[in-house]
Amino acid sequence: MIRLATAVDLPLLGELERAAGEPFRDLGMAAVADDEPFSVAELQPYQVDGRCWVVDVSGVVAGYLVADVVDGNGHVEQVSVLPSFARRGLGRQLIETAAAWAGARGLPALTLTTFRYVPWNAPYYARLGFRELLESSWGPSLRTIREHEAALGLDHWPRLAMIR
Ligand SMILES: CC(C)(COP(=O)(O)OP(=O)(O)OC[C@H]1O[C@@H](n2cnc3c(N)ncnc32)[C@H](O)[C@@H]1OP(=O)(O)O)[C@@H](O)C(=O)NCCC(=O)NCCS
Repeated sequence: MIRLATAVDLPLLGELERAAGEPFRDLGMAAVADDEPFSVAELQPYQVDGRCWVVDVSGVVAGYLVADVVDGNGHVEQVSVLPSFARRGLGRQLIETAAAWAGARGLPALTLTTFRYVPWNAPYYARLGFRELLESSWGPSLRTIREHEAALGLDHWPRLAMIR
């Protein structure tokens, strides 16, 4: 079941994100796996504003997504699913929830940034209907996000922006 996150959920999400990131290690992307997850303080504004959802599987918080508005579009800021619950369509349900949220707010599209060659990133989002958003079409806030990612060293592996 997808539901809005409550304040009680927030302390669980950092560990969830860390566990979800572990598979990056097998691709030689240890720095991504070791990336600091969102803190409770960082998650709180999303939760308070109704932009943080969790997948609740019989009381276990198995995944979460936080969304923003970026350049007038909905934007998937982070989506994570525990490896022990992976490949059951929970990620897809979270993305569809964000898409419905964006649609209800009259936002014309959903964007995200991700790794081009990681199987559960760009190829996965392409299967969900996203396509590459070329740099020439980035708005100022998306550009800032990409600059921030580059400054963090994430561009050591090719990244891209996508839109649906
Ligand atoms: C991306 C993520 C949220 C998807 O969650 P999920 O619940 O497994 O998603 P779904 O079940 O909807 O779809 C999973 C799809 O991802 C791809 N995928 C997932 N794990 C994979 C793996 N180890 N190898 C290859 N493809 C994989 C497949 O396309 C898979 O679909 P399939 O099972 O039909 O082949 C999850 O993999 C995750 O948390 N990853 C780590 C964090 C991350 O990369 N977040 C996105 C940042 S932009």
